[in-house]
Amino acid sequence: MRPWSYDDVKPLVKAANDKDVSATLRDSFPYPYKKEHAIDWITFALEVRPTCHFAIVVDNVACGGIGLTLQRDVFRYSAEIGYWLAKDHWGRGIMSEAVVAVSDYALYELGMTRVFAGTFDHNIASGRILEKAGFALEGRLRKAIFKYDRFYDQLMYGKVASR
Ligand SMILES: CC(C)(COP(=O)(O)OP(=O)(O)OC[C@H]1O[C@@H](n2cnc3c(N)ncnc32)[C@H](O)[C@@H]1OP(=O)(O)O)[C@@H](O)C(=O)NCCC(=O)NCCS
Repeated sequence: MRPWSYDDVKPLVKAANDKDVSATLRDSFPYPYKKEHAIDWITFALEVRPTCHFAIVVDNVACGGIGLTLQRDVFRYSAEIGYWLAKDHWGRGIMSEAVVAVSDYALYELGMTRVFAGTFDHNIASGRILEKAGFALEGRLRKAIFKYDRFYDQLMYGKVASR
């Protein structure tokens, strides 16, 4: 993992422009995923301080992303984690490793006390990754998600600092 760079625009579009990837993400991760989306994303990611958004790189090519959204106000010691990977690389344990690293970065480098994620109820792989990384299933928000003409429950996972 490393910070995003404008050199990633082309590989980012190639990796992200996939309906199967966008299907279990927010609409802010668009499909089709175009060059202007990649440029806007990288511009945003590079501005965030402290660094919270990372490219996942395999053989020197960006093929996914993982990041933290630090919360505000009374939630300011919480961070939401989000991640995605190009379909060619699914099932190799890449995101399992990345989620451990970035959630520990949030808790032990950035000083957060809580990291959380909300998955689509049918996203078994994502739930498994979170459980392996030490997240607990904390709740089910019934019919919270509307994506591509269907409602889904959202499963909420959280991991808290051991201090
Ligand atoms: C979810 C996603 C990030 C997974 O990444 P990945 O690198 O393929 O995941 P990993 O290989 O590290 O681990 C997946 C785990 O889920 C398991 N898994 C996957 N599909 C499964 C299924 N249908 N039933 C049971 N287990 C399943 C795998 O066996 C593996 O667990 P294991 O290590 O115990 O064998 C990837 O599919 C993706 O980018 N999806 C689209 C975007 C997305 O959903 N992001 C998450 C939003 S919350």
